[in-house]
Amino acid sequence: MIHKKLFAALLVLQAVGMQAQQALPPYLDETLPLEQRVSDALQRMTLDEKIAVIHAQSKFSAPGVPRLGFPDLWTDDGPHGVRPDVLWDEWVQAGQTNDSCVAFPALTCLAATWNPQMARLYGESLGEEALYRGKSVILGPGVNILRTPLNGRNFEYMGEDPWLASRMVVPYVQGLQSRGVAACVKHYALNNDEDFRHQVNVIVSDRALHEIYLPAFRAAVQEGGAWSIMGAYNLYRDQHNCHNAVLLNKILKGDWQFDGVVISDWGGCHDTDEAVRNGLDLEMGTWTDGLTMGRTNAYDSYHMAVAYKQAILSGKYSTRELDEKVRRLLRLYFRTTMNRHRPQGFLCSESHYATALRIAQEGIVLLKNSPSRSAAPLLPLDTMKYKKILVVGENAIKMMTVGGGSSSLKVQKEILPLDGLSQALTGHRYSLPSPLGERSGVRLDYARGYVGDTVQSFDGVSVGRSLYDTRSAEELTREAVEKARLADVVIFIGGLNKSDRQDSEGHDRQQYGLPYGQDQLIEALADANPNLVYVNVSGNPVAMPWLSRVPAVVQAWFIGSEAGEALASVLCGSVNPSGKLPYTWYASLEQCGAHATGSYPGTWRADHKIIDEEYLDDIFVGYRWMDLPLKDKAKQLKASSKSQTSNLKPQINKPLFPFGHGLSYTTFELKNPRADKRTMTADEQLTVSVDVTNTGSRQGAEVVQLYVSDLKASVPRPVKELKGFSKVSLQPGETKTVSITIDRQALSFYDETSQAWKAEPGDFDLLVGTSSAQTTGKLRLTLR
Ligand code: BGC
Repeated sequence: MIHKKLFAALLVLQAVGMQAQQALPPYLDETLPLEQRVSDALQRMTLDEKIAVIHAQSKFSAPGVPRLGFPDLWTDDGPHGVRPDVLWDEWVQAGQTNDSCVAFPALTCLAATWNPQMARLYGESLGEEALYRGKSVILGPGVNILRTPLNGRNFEYMGEDPWLASRMVVPYVQGLQSRGVAACVKHYALNNDEDFRHQVNVIVSDRALHEIYLPAFRAAVQEGGAWSIMGAYNLYRDQHNCHNAVLLNKILKGDWQFDGVVISDWGGCHDTDEAVRNGLDLEMGTWTDGLTMGRTNAYDSYHMAVAYKQAILSGKYSTRELDEKVRRLLRLYFRTTMNRHRPQGFLCSESHYATALRIAQEGIVLLKNSPSRSAAPLLPLDTMKYKKILVVGENAIKMMTVGGGSSSLKVQKEILPLDGLSQALTGHRYSLPSPLGERSGVRLDYARGYVGDTVQSFDGVSVGRSLYDTRSAEELTREAVEKARLADVVIFIGGLNKSDRQDSEGHDRQQYGLPYGQDQLIEALADANPNLVYVNVSGNPVAMPWLSRVPAVVQAWFIGSEAGEALASVLCGSVNPSGKLPYTWYASLEQCGAHATGSYPGTWRADHKIIDEEYLDDIFVGYRWMDLPLKDKAKQLKASSKSQTSNLKPQINKPLFPFGHGLSYTTFELKNPRADKRTMTADEQLTVSVDVTNTGSRQGAEVVQLYVSDLKASVPRPVKELKGFSKVSLQPGETKTVSITIDRQALSFYDETSQAWKAEPGDFDLLVGTSSAQTTGKLRLTLR
């Protein structure tokens, strides 16, 4: 009897369960395939709902479909931390008290770690911060190639090399998306400088496009599985890139099979018809008809709003393109806001600070550490020997997480370099104006040295302590020099900053040299004290005319919340530097292809509306240009479609520091480079191995770099190209074998005739080394 009752109850439960299952619309049924859910949701949507989801409703959000239970989609910058909230319809700060974040190091620093694991950690941590803040799309990472060191936004990108940028972007995207937050990889494509960014029309060969400028985007899409991508402001083939038929329809969505959402850069959409037909899916930030003032219903005037709806109603378009766009948005919803399994978000957690610190420490690059007049190298600082330490420079006391454009942040904390050093050396926070701290006889002093940028806030976020200083340049120099004479060692912390026309969005730098008279100050300090360490804070290389007079040079990037602690740990030696340059450090602009060819910033057309920038340096960007013999550079110019007076000057073919360069406090030896075969077919892989030994007396990490050189080809090829790398950590005396595997792609070039990658049979050299200029091992390979 009891059994019968139980059985009946079970039947009822099963029936209820089946009913509930039947009641669940397919788009909400997580057991169904994604595409089926997308189709189901799509066919339930009205025309108005479809039009609504493809354009913004506020500065950073687009509406979902409330009737069907899809919440609003919130985006936010990106790429170094989660930007503070702005007002609904303005760029101005919302003034919240709960939107302060952790600032992670800028992407140039991440690239300088040459450690893909750091990129994964970066993405995961950033994703957790974004989740907590209710953001489902992070506007980053940026992977535009460094073509000119004047580009104000290089600090947001991953350097000059397509292979390095590709290897670093993939784990960043995967890490971020593992938390259910979409990456929006930007700025697709050819957005390599900031001046006139809405008007630059890039003219570039198919080879340079595919070999240099697209690989990192392609890797982010095909390997990283990016869920969204941002169209760039500029033009390519006379069409804005937010609705560019070739870049979006043909390459991204056609060749690469991208199934995510193309989001316009803010204000990058200019035309309804092109937006409809050429692959834009979500229009953001458009400023049309004076809508910057935030008039009510301004968003109805977007190119893909009422104008598009009316064109559909009048029969100009079917809903074919619209449905295709909405499908992509729906996919994004299911991957983010509609994913019930997204993990918990965290803001400002200890683990995020630990991530920020670790990446900063791994990314700082020791550029030079020669013996000074007192014989031993100055770094790491020997506090038994150097008791009176003087810090000079504005960047020692300036917040760098504020400013620079859309990547500007509001941080919970930012340890400034002077504070970090003070803590490490004296055990106290440094406090102006009573500067002296002392521990174990070590005395730390500070002199401002120069005044650069004293702006107090950016977008309503304050920079903390006031930087106003009314003293003249002479007075500041005099003070610094007098103190330098009395010091045992001087640490100058200068470089660029995030103000307009430095490392900042919207404009390029106007000069390669250091601003604010820093060169003269450095010379004066070098006169006063030979024990001079120069710490450069920037996302770009700068001229260093005084380099021979300064024994130690460190590249410190913009490294976020833990800047001071990270820098102090490297300078004082508790961390052994292992960063490597992600770009060539030119001695002067003439060494850079974009400038040597006179092709930057381009030529205005007669109507002064468009500026054509022909990339005459072609595939020879960064070290690829440096490596090229002068006669080949000249040939390169002649081969270009545009006859132009050559700017080529015989030059010292040596940069200040080559791509891939970075020193350590220990030493390494690479021995016995070998390959598992001497000949290979196009279908095979080949593994290069080398034994790396730490020959010094402390733990450290080295980056083994593999460059490929095509000895004879039917097209001009770079002297060598990075095709593999691996970072290895070693205890003193320890040896490890590092192996790097390549396949035919590493041997290929983009063939313009067949529009495909091609590996030509023949001989190749495989160069193994520790920078692009330090390749010690050479192996010959024949491709059959
Ligand atoms: C920038 C983008 C940014 C967007 C939103 C634009 O001006 O180019 O990188 O994501 O603004 O802030």
